[in-house]
Amino acid sequence: MVIKPAVLKLGGSVITNKREPMTPNMPEIERLSREIARAKVSQLILIHGGGSYGHPLAEQYALKEGYKEQTQLVGFSKTHQAMVALNKLVVDALIRQNMAAVGLQPSSLVVTSSGRIRSIEEQPLRNMLEMGFLPVFYGDAVLDSDLGFTILSGDQLAAFLAVQLGASKIILGADVDGLYTSDPKSDPSARLIRRATLSDLRNMEHEIEKARVTDVTGGMAGKMLELMPAVGKKISALIVNAATPNNIYKALKGERVIGTTIVKG
Ligand code: IPE
Repeated sequence: MVIKPAVLKLGGSVITNKREPMTPNMPEIERLSREIARAKVSQLILIHGGGSYGHPLAEQYALKEGYKEQTQLVGFSKTHQAMVALNKLVVDALIRQNMAAVGLQPSSLVVTSSGRIRSIEEQPLRNMLEMGFLPVFYGDAVLDSDLGFTILSGDQLAAFLAVQLGASKIILGADVDGLYTSDPKSDPSARLIRRATLSDLRNMEHEIEKARVTDVTGGMAGKMLELMPAVGKKISALIVNAATPNNIYKALKGERVIGTTIVKG
């Protein structure tokens, strides 16, 4: 059987309430589950972010920078466990929509070195897709061969899996409409970029690096940099606002939707 899944990442800021630690946004999780079920994609890998479950703990214990002291170990446990709890909420919601969703733990399947994925145990994932399951990964605390451990973003995982499995497309569901000429949250003259090629992104790389501030795994700027290798392999990437009803449904169906499409060019 040919494996050519779509890869969908749902940002943590959409499925959790970012202002309140460990608070899910259940209405959004339910709505997005309904949209995913309704789209009936034959092969889909879902990945969700950490939002107010993963990021505050990861920051508190400085996990991304790697092992410095013994006390971080329990921080790794707490962060991972928070992500397991969020993953359960997402998977349960998908199952309520009668989808054969199964949570997969990056911490058990992935090893990074210096923060970049070096190996991933792919066979369970491939078999799941062949069987018609919906695998549901998440950003997680993972073991790292140089750093001891680190934080793996769902974005890096999405791009990596898309390349490894020759995905049909990557959809990133964010809490903004896509890539803007500047930060739309602080600059009212910011314009949405509807379509960008890799060379457009390379030209903007300096700006992108500057904007790498918001959360432990890099915000919108980090997303662009993560997507570039996958786009280089001709996998088109679409960033849409997942908080806008029907956007994820339309993106999965390949219908026109407001967002930023990134193509090799
Ligand atoms: C972060 O994953 C996971 C942890 C902090 C444990 P992401 O970086 O993919 O999460 P969001 O989408 O930005 O919230």
